[in-house]
Amino acid sequence: MIEVKDLCKQFKDGEKMIDVLKKISFTINEGDFVSIVGASGSGKSTLLTIIGGLQEPTSGHVYFKGQDIFADSKEDLAIFRQKHIGFVFQQMHLIPYLTALENVLLPLVPLNMSIEEQLERGRWALEKVGLKGKENRYPDQLSGGEQGRVALARAIVNKPPLILADEPTGNLDSKTGKTIMDLFKELNNEGQTILFITHHPEHANYGNRVFDMQDGLIVESR
Ligand SMILES: Nc1ncnc2c1ncn2[C@@H]1O[C@H](COP(=O)(O)OP(=O)(O)O)[C@@H](O)[C@H]1O
Ligand SMILES: [Mg+2]
Repeated sequence: MIEVKDLCKQFKDGEKMIDVLKKISFTINEGDFVSIVGASGSGKSTLLTIIGGLQEPTSGHVYFKGQDIFADSKEDLAIFRQKHIGFVFQQMHLIPYLTALENVLLPLVPLNMSIEEQLERGRWALEKVGLKGKENRYPDQLSGGEQGRVALARAIVNKPPLILADEPTGNLDSKTGKTIMDLFKELNNEGQTILFITHHPEHANYGNRVFDMQDGLIVESR
């Protein structure tokens, strides 16, 4: 499904360049559930955002089903993201003045879908994450765990084949974290491919593969 080939990313740190990703290569198969672990600053978030087409690599390629995602125009890249990727960020980035349902509907806005269809999808996603009945709450009327679930509902509302999640349980208590992980497992069992970053060893164990990232390099530990 995904082939990452010789991926390098450099950032400028004052006068000198720092190598954040050092020629990384791997493949991810459809149906994989991959956990990425590793120390803070090892390059995990940078890797995930490049795979999701949110920033470009310095060199190297990301192929999605054989297609180089950075080869085409910015518009094509945006369409690729809308169709194929669901993102869950650690800072959930919910819009405070939109309800849970309205937040979840955001990824559907650019798609050519009727309002009825959008609402149906949005309610489906919220029910899926266990928030039925809370559609009209604003983020500040929801607990941290519930906000996390809204963020997850928003990531799955367009039924993307690939979910990318950056420490989705990072700010949650262990009970809520487990609920979110169980949801990921369920989505994976239903066929969605998942690539997620975590620093919880017990959450990393949900993956059928574990990538250990160290200083811009990956060692697959399982
Ligand atoms: N936009 C940026 N500009 C400069 N340096 C960056 C930028 N993004 C990340 N970095 C640096 O790249 C390194 C890896 O960051 P990151 O991918 O966020 O690591 P992780 O998610 O593993 O903690 C860090 O040293 C960070 O400071
Ligand atoms: Mg990070």
